[in-house]
Amino acid sequence: PGNECRYKYEEYKETADWLLSHTEKRPKVAIICGSGLGGLADLLDDKTVFPYKEIPRFPTSTVQGHAGQLVFGKLQDCECVCMQGRFHFYEGYDIHTVTYPMRVFFLLGVETLIVTNAAGGLNGSFNVGDIMLIKDHINMPGFAGQNPLCGHNDERFGVRFPCMSDAYDRKLRALAKQTAEEHGCGSFLQEGVYCMLAGPTFETIAECSLLQKLGADAVGMSTVPEVVVARHCGLRVLGLSLITNKVVTDYDSDEKANHEEVLKTTELRTQDLQRLVSHLVTKI
Ligand code: 6GU
Repeated sequence: PGNECRYKYEEYKETADWLLSHTEKRPKVAIICGSGLGGLADLLDDKTVFPYKEIPRFPTSTVQGHAGQLVFGKLQDCECVCMQGRFHFYEGYDIHTVTYPMRVFFLLGVETLIVTNAAGGLNGSFNVGDIMLIKDHINMPGFAGQNPLCGHNDERFGVRFPCMSDAYDRKLRALAKQTAEEHGCGSFLQEGVYCMLAGPTFETIAECSLLQKLGADAVGMSTVPEVVVARHCGLRVLGLSLITNKVVTDYDSDEKANHEEVLKTTELRTQDLQRLVSHLVTKI
């Protein structure tokens, strides 16, 4: 009832065991492809694809533009599993369902999670099309009682009170910076704090002003619940936000945040992001 975790260890285990018995692939890296960034999964070689609806107990996705499948395969020489399509809280999934795949990844033997998303730029020095390495997050839904770790804690996943001050792995961030420099992404790579809001509304001007005062550099509607659950079970995390638009901060502006602009920018930069991630994984 209420905010109790809806899933038991045995359910995640059943999903993981099914996958383990249906593929011989044993990826150490999982990648969540954000809005418009699903092309990354298409890049994998030697693919094995499982539509979410065919995986026992796996949630199914509803939104257009999200393929809704797990793709196992090789990125360069690195065995990966990609989520092509993620579950958003604003779609009506509860917070435990949003994060369900993370514990499945853990049980598959995954050690590193790479999360990508589309986000609005709050930091005035960011440009549309920049890629922001996530250095830290603000879990706004968590403030409001929507933390995916609320409820009974199963110690087989992690501790009751997990540390979040090292959520975004420093070594992976250094590796990402180095890789960005080497592959022509250095000029538009930023680093900053990602704030999650539940959505689906974009922010008001007053809300943007609040988030800027709080020290957030980018705002979006995903990622944080997955990172919390991944860190709880000990996965290393790298987060990348594509800055798809700048938030509106001026009452006299006629600009409006909109999904079309978000998709337009992801199209523009999706190649760069794919290049960055595919070279990065070879160094992990
Ligand atoms: Cl401006 N806001 C939020 N909440 N999410 C976004 C966004 C803005 N741009 C892309 N995703």
